[in-house]
Amino acid sequence: MTSKAMTWVAVIVTITALAVPNLFAIDTKSSAREGIPPRTVADYLRAVIMAHRHFYTTYIVNRLQQERIVDAVENWQTTHSLPLPVQLLQETSEIAELTGPNVRYHLISQWPINKANVPANEFERMALKELQVYPNRPYSSTIRSGEGQLFEAVYADLAVTTACVQCHNSHPSSPKSDFKVGDVMGGLVISFPLSDR
Ligand code: HEC
Repeated sequence: MTSKAMTWVAVIVTITALAVPNLFAIDTKSSAREGIPPRTVADYLRAVIMAHRHFYTTYIVNRLQQERIVDAVENWQTTHSLPLPVQLLQETSEIAELTGPNVRYHLISQWPINKANVPANEFERMALKELQVYPNRPYSSTIRSGEGQLFEAVYADLAVTTACVQCHNSHPSSPKSDFKVGDVMGGLVISFPLSDR
C-alpha cells in the first residue's frame, strides 16, 4: 500500500469510528421513543370498535327492522334474529381475545340492564363517576394483572339516539327509566396487555 492509500484508510477508519457510536447513540434514543403510547392505541381501537357498532346499528339493524325483514333482539340465537349492537360488541370481543394479543372490550354501566355489566373493580367505578362529570375525558390506567401489566381505558358511552333511550328506559331489567338523549349511559372499557416486546 502506498502512503497515500494508507492515509486514506486511516481517514476512513477514523470517520467510521466516530460515526458508528453516534449511529448507535441515535438508535438507542429512537428505540427509547419507539412505540405508540397505550392511550393512543386505545383511542385507535375505540375508533374502529365504534365505527363497526355505528355501521351495524345504522345500516343493518335499523334497515332490516324498518323493512320488517328481521328484528334485533336480546335472545337472538334462539329466535333466529339479529344480535343487539351491544351483543355484537360482546361477541366480537370474545373472538378478538382468541386471536392472540388479548385485546378485550365491553360496555359497563352504573344502571345496567344486564347485571354482569356492572363495573368490575374500583378503577371502573371511579371511571364511570368521572365520565358523568367529564364525558370527553377518557379515564385510563395501568393495572397489575396475573401475568403482568394491563392497560385499561374507559370512554363515555353516550345516548346518541332516541333508540338508546327508549329501549333502556322501557326494558323490564333496567334500573333506570329516565335516560335522556345526550346522557352518559355507561362506559366502553378497552383493555390490552402491556409488553416490552
Ligand atoms: C333494542 C334495545 C336496545 C337499544 C336500542 C340499545 N340498547 Fe344498550 N343494551 C340493551 C340490552 C338488552 C343490554 C344488555 C345486553 C347484555 O349484556 O346482555 C344493553 C347494554 C348496554 C350497556 C351496558 C350496560 C347494561 O345496560 O347492561 C350500555 C352502556 C348500553 N347498552 C348503551 C346503549 C347505547 C349508548 C345505545 C344507543 C347507541 C343502546 N345501548 C341501544 C338494549 C338496547
